[in-house]
Amino acid sequence: MTRKVTKAIFPVAGLGTRFLPATKSIPKEIMTLVDRPLIQYAIDEARAAGIEEFIFVTSRGKGALEDYFDHAHELESSLKKSGKNELLDILRSTNMESGAIAYVRQHKALGLGHAVWCARRLVGDEPFAVILTDDVIMGEPPCLQQMIEAYQETGGSMVATMEVPADKTQAYGVLDVSEDMGAIVRARGMVEKPKENPPSNLAVIGRYILAPSVLNNLNKLKQGSGGEIQLTDAIADEIAEGRDVFGLRFRGQRFDCGSKAGFLQATVAFGLARDDLKDEFAGYLSDLLAMRKAAE
Ligand code: G1P
Repeated sequence: MTRKVTKAIFPVAGLGTRFLPATKSIPKEIMTLVDRPLIQYAIDEARAAGIEEFIFVTSRGKGALEDYFDHAHELESSLKKSGKNELLDILRSTNMESGAIAYVRQHKALGLGHAVWCARRLVGDEPFAVILTDDVIMGEPPCLQQMIEAYQETGGSMVATMEVPADKTQAYGVLDVSEDMGAIVRARGMVEKPKENPPSNLAVIGRYILAPSVLNNLNKLKQGSGGEIQLTDAIADEIAEGRDVFGLRFRGQRFDCGSKAGFLQATVAFGLARDDLKDEFAGYLSDLLAMRKAAE
């Protein structure tokens, strides 16, 4: 029997410099796809997977992110008074139970592994999830739920994975696979951003379910790729110490919202997926493409 996963860590301390000047005054996690901030997509996915405690690893300048999760009492009562019930429902669906969110500060940008380590006392001795908000995944059931189901079958730690082109592996953690069971693979190693000879083309995507022993591995605060403390290395240590680590080829489409091109692609995909927008938006896109073609 695996233990229920009820806690998730959201490392949100990054500066988001790739989105300057927007991120001069807003945290990148507040940037919106259609009408929802990136963080809302991550929270919704975690809630759908049964997560009850949400641990944000933040840094200076992320106040707007904390404010976002305050209940907007005045706004709620004015929407209620004016009978705008649909908007009221949308607003209320973002409300979190008091005490469900905890914040810890990462005082120095020492890497993803370090950010996760900063949350160690709040996680304690139980399995936990990690969600990277830059990786937005459109999927049904949502990716983390697929992972929880796979984790219940296998136990051990689990990372989300997908095939990437060979020339892109150096941007990711990459799995060394010992057994390919279809949707689930067993890892015999993991390498962060391999410069050459990647062990496979299976990249780690920003969803993890991790055994608490990963936090002990992070205690070593060992510097890895790029001089940073890497989560990938702490997971690789799990394997070296004889514990199980799996990858799940999730069903769904992943967008790299940490890059401008990925963010734009996600905006288009999520816009086209919305019943209230898709006809008008699809019409606009096809006119635009036809115009570009005519001008060629
Ligand atoms: C992080 C992880 C990497 C993973 C990637 C997924 O890298 O370190 O292993 O493949 O997220 O998005 P980052 O993109 O933050 O450099």
